[in-house]
Amino acid sequence: MTVPRREGPHSVATVPPASAKPRRMLFRRAGRRTNVALFVALVGSFVTGWLAFGIGAPVPASITSVTHGVTGLALVVLIPWKNTVVGRAPRKAIASLTLLGVLVLCVVAGIVAVLGGFRTYAGLTPMQFHVGAALIAVPLIGWHVVGHRRRQGPRRTDLSRRQLLQTAGLAAGAGAAYLVVEGAGRLSGSPAADRRQTGSHELDPEQMPVTIWLFDDVPALEPTEHVVRVDQQSFTSAALSQRPEASEFEATLDCTNGWYATAPWRGVRLADLLDPGRVRGARSIRVTSTTGYARIFPVRDVDLLWLATELNGRPLTAGHGAPVRLVAPGRRGFWWVKWVDTVELSEDPWWWQLPFPAQ
Ligand code: HEM
Ligand code: HEM
Repeated sequence: MTVPRREGPHSVATVPPASAKPRRMLFRRAGRRTNVALFVALVGSFVTGWLAFGIGAPVPASITSVTHGVTGLALVVLIPWKNTVVGRAPRKAIASLTLLGVLVLCVVAGIVAVLGGFRTYAGLTPMQFHVGAALIAVPLIGWHVVGHRRRQGPRRTDLSRRQLLQTAGLAAGAGAAYLVVEGAGRLSGSPAADRRQTGSHELDPEQMPVTIWLFDDVPALEPTEHVVRVDQQSFTSAALSQRPEASEFEATLDCTNGWYATAPWRGVRLADLLDPGRVRGARSIRVTSTTGYARIFPVRDVDLLWLATELNGRPLTAGHGAPVRLVAPGRRGFWWVKWVDTVELSEDPWWWQLPFPAQ
């Protein structure tokens, strides 16, 4: 005989006979808390994914990538419990099943990005599939949560000792899933083991692909005529490369598309071009491309930023930003403004811009 027992707000569970397998009982506990855990894991992986895109410094990048992997894989760990929730639902909505499909694509593409190295599938990189799927998931999850919102939110009892133990169990499961992916990557000799803290895979600098953040087109600039305005002065690329301070240096371009390359560049530091007195009076440096694409840097970066005219011992190609591009070591590729038109000192704080360009 089974005794009806109210388990969650939307489900009535029954206490199974003693002979029922413990594993099935475990998954039968699925309900509101499963959905809350899914929601937290989804928000966590979305936020840490963008942080992983934004952070270039090794230690914070490692912390972010590992946290991202663990929160993303928590979704996989929760599958058996969510399967019970879905099984109980009287009908399955197309939008919810689409959400499921999009998230499967997102997680698979994330794992392929880790294990498969940098390559394209049907013209797109795993990272493009991954982030594209994550962006499509956002309105679908919003729709799903609003559609099922009745009494789904967190409660005080979620902080009980038992719930905290369950949360710790989920975290341990997700951590184990992360170690399984990492271990499989290493044992199989996949490129996963050699990736950088940001998750990017190394490329030969001669093979550096031309990548564009979103919608820019490569402009047709005449290298001998194009003039770059740097605060109150103007330079052609030839004038820049003939300056006595021009030198060759190594820098690592780490692209959010999933690759990095350490290459020899040639250029001049902004600190050697700007007037120190005027730099002291500014708060930020705004670098703008001929396409209108722009990034604002804190003025303290003046010693770190270069106006480059050569890559791999040759003048820049149009795709790589000719005639002059910014080189910003330690920052992800979308900060390395191509086809530089102006460098301006500004009173605005550097953070007064979109965290990721919309162009
Ligand atoms: C990983 C993301 C998720 C996927 C793929 C997913 C998918 C599904 C599917 C296919 C169903 C069956 C009913 C339907 O088609 O609408 C369902 C049920 C349900 N989902 Fe989700 N869901 C997800 C996350 C969430 C979250 C974050 C919440 C709320 C915070 C939630 C709340 C619910 C509820 C309450 C039901 C039960 C509806 C019923 O019993 O009639 N789900 N989910
Ligand atoms: C709900 C959304 C998301 C989920 C569920 C998710 C999940 C995952 C998973 C499971 C991995 C593989 C982790 C590993 O095994 O190490 C991964 C990798 C990655 N994801 Fe996401 N992700 C999401 C959104 C995003 C977004 C929005 C971005 C960037 C804007 C992003 C950037 C990355 C990066 C850079 C990696 C590679 C990290 C590494 O190599 O360690 N993800 N993601």
